[in-house]
Amino acid sequence: MSTTSYSNAEIAPLASLDDWEDDLLKRYPDPDSIAQAKAKEEFRNYDQPGRDTVTEFYRLNHKYQTYDFVMEKEREFLKFDKKEMPVWDAFQFLNTLVDDSDPDIELDQLQHLLQTSEAIRADGHPDWFVLTGLLHDMGKVLCLFGEPQWAVVGDTFPVGCKHSDKIVYPEFFDANPDSKDERYNTQYGVYEPNCGLRNVHMSWGHDEYLYQMVKDYLPESALYMIRYHSFYAQHREQAYNHLMDAHDHEYFKWVKLFNPYDLYSKAPTPPNWKELRPYYEDLAAKYLPTTLKF
Ligand SMILES: [Fe+2]
Ligand SMILES: [Fe+2]
Repeated sequence: MSTTSYSNAEIAPLASLDDWEDDLLKRYPDPDSIAQAKAKEEFRNYDQPGRDTVTEFYRLNHKYQTYDFVMEKEREFLKFDKKEMPVWDAFQFLNTLVDDSDPDIELDQLQHLLQTSEAIRADGHPDWFVLTGLLHDMGKVLCLFGEPQWAVVGDTFPVGCKHSDKIVYPEFFDANPDSKDERYNTQYGVYEPNCGLRNVHMSWGHDEYLYQMVKDYLPESALYMIRYHSFYAQHREQAYNHLMDAHDHEYFKWVKLFNPYDLYSKAPTPPNWKELRPYYEDLAAKYLPTTLKF
């Protein structure tokens, strides 16, 4: 693994991976005022995640996520030769990603996944959509392979072309060598106008990793939700229409539909995993192979 060149402070600027999501919630608050009150209630229980740790997280993300870095990570991880696990072991594995900083020990990674999937199920969506909710952050296991936080979570964006000023903290891209590289700093960079996102490399993280892991098993709508759920510069800000084609626009309806379930489904009562497990085991068995390759 190539993380040796980063200091510990650079590998883990955040006390908790969830600090990025808490910050998203501040940037994109729930329009539903009741849920907003609920979210406030919940925030009160946390040490206010230092604004500056999130800022530092983005500084590192924007500095190091270059076109070459993404190519290197794709080569390293898309071989899927790190580990092979039954689906349920993978959830247990993900749950070993615990933060000392989190005062609520019940609120582990699986809880966020279950709250997302249960909110989708409660709205009567198709079962593959529910499964997408359950799986969508599975790619965060990258952290357990020693990857820096800024190469696992964070808003994603296209690499190989100009960074949009609609991306959070755009000024931090000044430190990214690609912003001074003529191959990569024009509007289209290495891409053609409206070439379609399937031809575009995104900054490396849990979204692309999981998409590549499950792309043969789920409907395309589900795959768009998984692959682009952190691409806020597009699904919230429409900053990359010039790279999208008609097919992308069609399928981004699903990405937009998914986003509120991801951001606003934190419930005060955690779902009962024991009770829910049989339903989800059947659901996973319907779509996924017995083991997943990481
Ligand atoms: Fe995510
Ligand atoms: Fe999520």
